[in-house]
Amino acid sequence: MVDMSKYSEVYGSWKNDPDAFWAAAARDIDWFKLWDRVFDPYADEYGRWYVGAECNTCYNCLDRHVENGRGGQAAIIYDSPITDQKQTISYAELLDDVATFAAVLQENGVGKGDRVVIYMPMVPEAVVAMLACARIGAIHSVVFGGFAASELASRIDDAKPKMIVAASCGIEPGRIVSYKPLIDEAIEIASFKPDCCIIGQRPQEIATLIEGRDLDWSVLVNDARERNAKAPCTPVLATDPLYILYTSGTTGQPKGVVRDNGGHMVALKWSMQNIYGMDPGDVFWAASDVGWVVGHSYIVYGPLLHGCTTVVFEGKPVGTPDAGVFWRVISEHGVKALFTAPTAFRAIKKEDPGGELIKSYDLSGFKTLFLAGERADPDTLQWAENNLGVPVIDHWWQTETGWSIAANPVGIEILPVVHGSPTVAMPGYDIQILDDACNEVPRGETGAISVKLPLPPSCLPTLWQDDQRFRESYLEDYPGYYKTADAGYMDENGYIYVMSRTDDIINVAGHRLSTGGMEEVVASHPDVAECAVIGIADKLKGQIPAGFIVLNSGVERDRAKIEGEVVKLVRDKIGPVAAFKTVLTVQRLPKTRSGKILRGTMRSIADGGAYKMPPTIDDPAILDEIKEALKVLQPPA
Ligand code: COA
Ligand code: AMP
Repeated sequence: MVDMSKYSEVYGSWKNDPDAFWAAAARDIDWFKLWDRVFDPYADEYGRWYVGAECNTCYNCLDRHVENGRGGQAAIIYDSPITDQKQTISYAELLDDVATFAAVLQENGVGKGDRVVIYMPMVPEAVVAMLACARIGAIHSVVFGGFAASELASRIDDAKPKMIVAASCGIEPGRIVSYKPLIDEAIEIASFKPDCCIIGQRPQEIATLIEGRDLDWSVLVNDARERNAKAPCTPVLATDPLYILYTSGTTGQPKGVVRDNGGHMVALKWSMQNIYGMDPGDVFWAASDVGWVVGHSYIVYGPLLHGCTTVVFEGKPVGTPDAGVFWRVISEHGVKALFTAPTAFRAIKKEDPGGELIKSYDLSGFKTLFLAGERADPDTLQWAENNLGVPVIDHWWQTETGWSIAANPVGIEILPVVHGSPTVAMPGYDIQILDDACNEVPRGETGAISVKLPLPPSCLPTLWQDDQRFRESYLEDYPGYYKTADAGYMDENGYIYVMSRTDDIINVAGHRLSTGGMEEVVASHPDVAECAVIGIADKLKGQIPAGFIVLNSGVERDRAKIEGEVVKLVRDKIGPVAAFKTVLTVQRLPKTRSGKILRGTMRSIADGGAYKMPPTIDDPAILDEIKEALKVLQPPA
């Protein structure tokens, strides 16, 4: 039996009295008005946290630290090996920047409850824009820079933003990603038109601004500074939305995950101390992107709520300039904990298998490595443990939750690390593994990983203006539970093992993507009669998408040409982040007698794993044809 007395005490105290637990945690946040009820089980879809309380997230991230003497401490360290720039911004300076930009937003028509789409790379201005929205009670929706114009357009149509805040470009190794043409195209495609765009011009590419719609960030901010225009914090309800973050759903239409203000602050602040073992003043680095939930929670809100210094890193784990950049950043900025996706470590391990570059840096201040975003493979964990000599902690969560469902709570006690498991349930989460009839399965048996309702603070209360989809996606399959859409098991010590998704979501380099969404795009090619997109195992990215297409009868054009067009179509419609580079033309797709494509079986064949011949298969010979088609992907012996 594993000794987990301290963790058990904390988890038990939550289970005994959840309201008392979350009321105590909420004391670490400054409120303008305290709640009427810690939790109202009758409100909205499954209850709401801190009902009646008033607060402001930006106040808790910035103002209160400055008021309490943290003004001179670094809030942001911007380190951009890709542009060869570094900058340190103190809490006092960041507060000044945010209050000024918040005034600019207000002066340009943005008020409480209005949505603002933010489309920016990893620059401090992205954080300034997010916090400025929070300051005035506007709801931000950050869109990752690797998405194409039509993805941006679908988010614009759903969120209906008053304004878009963007940079002129992002920078990827070897190329500049021009954001402005993507924004112009997205606004063109979208049915909803935002009133204006504020564009931050980067020296690498100056965007052409459209008169009457586009405004220049620097011009507006300089003007506001001259007038000393600054916006105060607008009180919002704890239950008011702070942001909408779109994530892949099972169709091409992304889901707008809503995050509230109060519960989000409480859970993130709690997690910084208890999960990540951070103290105020420590340097925390989440090597992700502000466009993902990891970036929202642990580049921006978590570290700043806790009074830490956060690193905004604009670079890659390899190639900017080499596989030693993570160690350089850790030693140069005194990083105490790094949080990234396993894929980043697989990339580093591939370039520097012996970990030689690690030896050139002083990593004595580095205490813990946290991994999440995809299953952490034991090889990568082992390599990181051997070469870094610090605990390597896998933890499991989702855009929907905003913080860990299962983790190893470093700040409470480090539980024995078991490779392949993100450890145990965090307070707030009653995790149960269910069968299809909604009964708990015995320990060790695989089932649907589910969370008994209610969900804890920070988890999504609903999807943006779509309660119906929220219920259908998460609550209806297992009444009384939240469906994580992950499958796995729990061992006798309560350790969780997250094995696979139960839907069509795949995880490519730590990025969550919908194969259903890709199929919609592939099927739109005029020569494609039908198609299937599956995720196949990849050594570096975990999974990569592969498309199988059946051509319309009578199509005589060169197959390679059509396959190339399909690849381009997905890149143009979804974006480079889909990493969609493999298309195979086949005569037929394997199906059940009722016409369902056997994607799971195709995936098993592609991964070289064992598979059972599905009893309902229409024609077993088609599986051999799929095997044959996949041969082109196999590396030569
Ligand atoms: N803007 C525009 N394009 C972007 C982008 C961005 N912000 N981020 C990625 N892309 C592009 C890449 O340039 C690449 O384009 P290409 O097909 O022209 O080469 C494509 O999207 C796929 O990107 P990615 O899957 O990230 O692959 P990569 O080869 O560029 O890098 C890794 C591989 C492993 C180094 C990289 O995925 C990585 O650093 N991952 C860290 C994981 C992470 O941050 N996860 C987030 C959740 S924690
Ligand atoms: P996202 O919403 O982009 O954070 O992706 C969430 C999904 O990524 C989860 O539902 C899992 O499928 C997967 N995931 C995240 N973290 C882990 C982990 N530590 N282990 C296994 N899968 C993970």
